Amino acid sequence: MNHSLTNFSQRRRWAADQAISFLMQQGVEHPHVLSLGAGLVDAASLPVTEAIEAAREVLAEEVRGQSALQYGTTQGELRLRQHLADYQTRIEQTSAPAAHRVAVADEIVCTTGSQQLLALLADALFDPGDICLVAAPTYFVFLGVLEGVGARTIALPADEHGLRMEALEGELQRLETAGELSRVKLIYVVSEFENPTGISLSLERRGQLVEIAKTWSTRRGEKIYVLEDAAYRELHYDAPPPPSVWSFDTAGDTVIHAGTFSKSFSPGLRVGFGLMPRELRDAVNDLKGNQDFGSANFNQHLLADLLGSGRFAIHAEQVRAAYRIKRDAMLAAADEFFADLPGVSWVHPHGGLYVWMTLPPHIVTGFDSPLFRRAVDVEQVMYVPGELCFGGPREQRQCNHMRLSFGVQSPEGLREGMRRLSQAVRRFL
Ligand SMILES: Cc1ncc(COP(=O)(O)O)c(C=O)c1O
Repeated sequence: MNHSLTNFSQRRRWAADQAISFLMQQGVEHPHVLSLGAGLVDAASLPVTEAIEAAREVLAEEVRGQSALQYGTTQGELRLRQHLADYQTRIEQTSAPAAHRVAVADEIVCTTGSQQLLALLADALFDPGDICLVAAPTYFVFLGVLEGVGARTIALPADEHGLRMEALEGELQRLETAGELSRVKLIYVVSEFENPTGISLSLERRGQLVEIAKTWSTRRGEKIYVLEDAAYRELHYDAPPPPSVWSFDTAGDTVIHAGTFSKSFSPGLRVGFGLMPRELRDAVNDLKGNQDFGSANFNQHLLADLLGSGRFAIHAEQVRAAYRIKRDAMLAAADEFFADLPGVSWVHPHGGLYVWMTLPPHIVTGFDSPLFRRAVDVEQVMYVPGELCFGGPREQRQCNHMRLSFGVQSPEGLREGMRRLSQAVRRFL
């Protein structure tokens, strides 16, 4: 038997114990548990027919088929990037109010899901001890990525209009006074239907955010970038979102816009993309070259075809209709089973996949909490503990929230899941 220890890298140690792996494992170990936790998408709306048609088209002509089955480029398939640029430009122009920034293929990098882009950007920007400013709460897997590169996160308050701008400016001021402004590299926002709260950044704050980043970049003497994570942009159920944060960066030197086809089409294809300032594009390309010198080329050809033929837009509309029903089912079940519980409240999302529920402060929701154990072991329902979604020091994290996903379950499953969860919560009130 070999008793020698592995001297793992610091990065490996920073990456230990990520909640996402635990959550995935819970799903596998307890298949009978009704999951309101998983951020997976609705199986019934996955586009099998569209994918078959697109694959047929890509493979119909020998030369094109061969090129799709060959290695691609690190930056990504040019046809896809051109379609993405057109698509992005069109969305901005048709948003209300219309924005007129034009996207070009050259500033786009295609990645393996937008998650790879987030990880590459973290690699490109952060040395250990550097700072990322985030909303409290925010997308917990990105918090794991930041931890994994040794970055510090500072969690700033948000309200029903998203990250609060005066809190952001106040924090930058504080960091300057503390001599730490030079460590600030990035401000991260999920602009549309935030994972986990479902809240979007208001139109007014989008412009302000870009202004603040530019002003403080000048003051710092080096760039403070804004990463706009728009993973849920297509999943709007009441009205299309306003122009992106990216559209306010008319000089094109401050904002990275991260997008993905995971939620609106298929997460299995793992196609994400980013629009970004050129020096960052080069950095991301260099790092990506070392990792995989290009994401799955065949999948990029499929997506190019789907965007070009208009089938993606048709499918996105169908997906919105399916999730609108589920969103309404979860909110109706919340009214039915939680409305009479004192101190319990939740956000009504206009898009995305989540309902963010707040319990009275004394009810802790974490993996080790009696509520989580009761929910999983007795009531057989699972949620994502809200504390995972808070950056900053552990002792400052709020522990009385739950992220409830309406993506996977049917409307009936959602009602049953919410009934079970309310049973668990009642025990602790
Ligand atoms: C806010 C947010 N950003 C990025 C991602 C990454 O998704 P993907 O890598 O599938 O594009 C997710 C996935 O759930 C997400 O919720």
